[in-house]
Amino acid sequence: MEQYAIKGGSPLVGEVEIGGAKNAALPILAAALMSDETVYIDNVPEVSDIEILLDGMKNIGVSVKKKGRHFVTINGGNVTSIEAIDDNLKKIRGSYYLVGALLGKYKEAVVTLPGGCDIGFRAIDQHIKGFKALGADIRIESGVIKAYAKKLVGSHIYMDVVSVGATINVMMASVLAEGTTIIDNAAKEPHVVDLANFLNSMGANIKGAGTDVIRIKGVERLHGTEYTIIPDQIEAGTFMFAAAITKGDVMVKNVIPKHLESISAKLLEIGCEVEEADDCVRVVASKPLKPTHVKTLPYPGFPTDMQPQITVALALSQGISIVTETLFENRFKYVDELTRMGGNIKVEGNTAIIEGVEKFSGAGITAPDLRAGAALVMAALAADGFSTVDDIKYIRRGYEDFHIKLQGLGAQIALVDSERELRKFKMKIG
Ligand code: EPZ
Repeated sequence: MEQYAIKGGSPLVGEVEIGGAKNAALPILAAALMSDETVYIDNVPEVSDIEILLDGMKNIGVSVKKKGRHFVTINGGNVTSIEAIDDNLKKIRGSYYLVGALLGKYKEAVVTLPGGCDIGFRAIDQHIKGFKALGADIRIESGVIKAYAKKLVGSHIYMDVVSVGATINVMMASVLAEGTTIIDNAAKEPHVVDLANFLNSMGANIKGAGTDVIRIKGVERLHGTEYTIIPDQIEAGTFMFAAAITKGDVMVKNVIPKHLESISAKLLEIGCEVEEADDCVRVVASKPLKPTHVKTLPYPGFPTDMQPQITVALALSQGISIVTETLFENRFKYVDELTRMGGNIKVEGNTAIIEGVEKFSGAGITAPDLRAGAALVMAALAADGFSTVDDIKYIRRGYEDFHIKLQGLGAQIALVDSERELRKFKMKIG
C-alpha cells in the first residue's frame, strides 16, 4: 500500500507554486454542463475528487476532454441521463453540485447522496430548503437524492446556517429559473465568488457574491465560455503553515493574498514574518513560535480546512493555545496521531487545549482525512527521525503532487509502495 516515508528535522526552504482551487473547480465543472455549448476551463487541479466528478459527468453523457494536466473542455449538449448514480460519486462531497446543475438545467436530477471526508455530521437540509423554495419536489430514497420541478421560480431564501455547499447549489439551481432569487445569509468564500463569476461569464445574472446577500436574476440560457479557476486558498495556507511548522522560509507563489488574510494574521500572531506581494506570500519562521487562540469560522474567518495545520504549529509553540472548531464536530481525529508523535493536546468537545512541546518524534501514522493528512505530513517533516504516513489517498483528494512540491522545498519525503522501497529510502537518507 502506498505511503509517504519522511525523514524530518530540516526546515523547508524555497518556492512553491499553488494550483487551482479544488473547492471552486468542483462546482464550476458541474455548472459547465448547464450550457449546450463548449466551456473551456483552465487551472483545474489534478486531484482525485475532481477525477471522480469528471468520470461521473462522463457517465451521464457530458463530453469531458482533458488537454494537458489542468485544462478541461466540457460540453453538456448531449447529456443522456439526469441520473448520476455511482459508487465513486458517493465518496465525494462535490457530487451534490450535480443536483443544482441538473435540476437548474433539466428541472430534474437523481444523484447519489454525497460522502466526503469523515469530519462530522454533514447535513444537506439547507440545500433541500433552497431547492424546495424554488419549486422543486425533493425526495431522498435509498441513498439517492431525487429532485423534480415542473418549473423553477425565483424565491427569497434565508439560509439558517452559512453553508458553502447550499449557497452554491441554490445559486446553480436558480440561474435558469423564472424571476429573481435572493439568497440571504449566503456563504462568502472565494470559491462561491469564483462560481458566480464563472456563471456570469456564461451569461448568468448574479450580483452580490462575496457578500451576505446574493441576487440571481434568471436568464433563458447559458452559453459557452473560457474561464480560469482561482488559486487554492487552502493549498496555499497549508504551505504557509509548513514554513512555520518546520521553522523554514517559503515563498508561496500564484496566490491571491486577500484570500489568505486570516491565515497570514495568525502566522504573524505566532511570531512568523509574512511578506505579501501581488501574487505571492513569503513566510519566514526564524523565531520560536508563540501560542495563540483560534476559532474556525466561515470566510473571512479562519477556515476550518486550516484547523489541523494551525494545531500542528501551535503544538510546537512555547505555551498554551486553544483551538475551537465551530463547523464540524469530528475534525480533531488526527490529534491521537499527533499525541503519538509527542504532541501534548487535550480535546474537550469542539475545543483542543494545546501545550506546546519542543519537538515531535517520528512515528508510523495514518491520515484520517484530507486536511488532517496534510497537517500530519508537516508534523512528520518537523519531527526528529523517521515517519511513515498511511492512507495518503485522502491527501490525494485535494493536494496535487503534494510530496513533489514538498521535495522542491527540500523535504526528505518519498512516495513508497513496498517494504523494499521503504528500505531504499531509509538507506538513501541515512
Ligand atoms: C465545503 O463543505 C468544503 N467542501 C469543505 O472542504 C469545507 O470544510 C466546508 O465547505 C467549510 O468551508 C467542498 O467545497 C466540496 P458547508 P460543505 O455546507 O459545503 C452545516 C476540504 O477539506 N450545514 O459550508 O459540506 C454543516 O454541517 C473540505 O476541502 C447544515 O447544517 O460545508 C457545517 O457545520 C472538507 N446544513 C456547516 O454548515 C446544510 O444543509 C458548514 O458546512 C449544509 C451545511
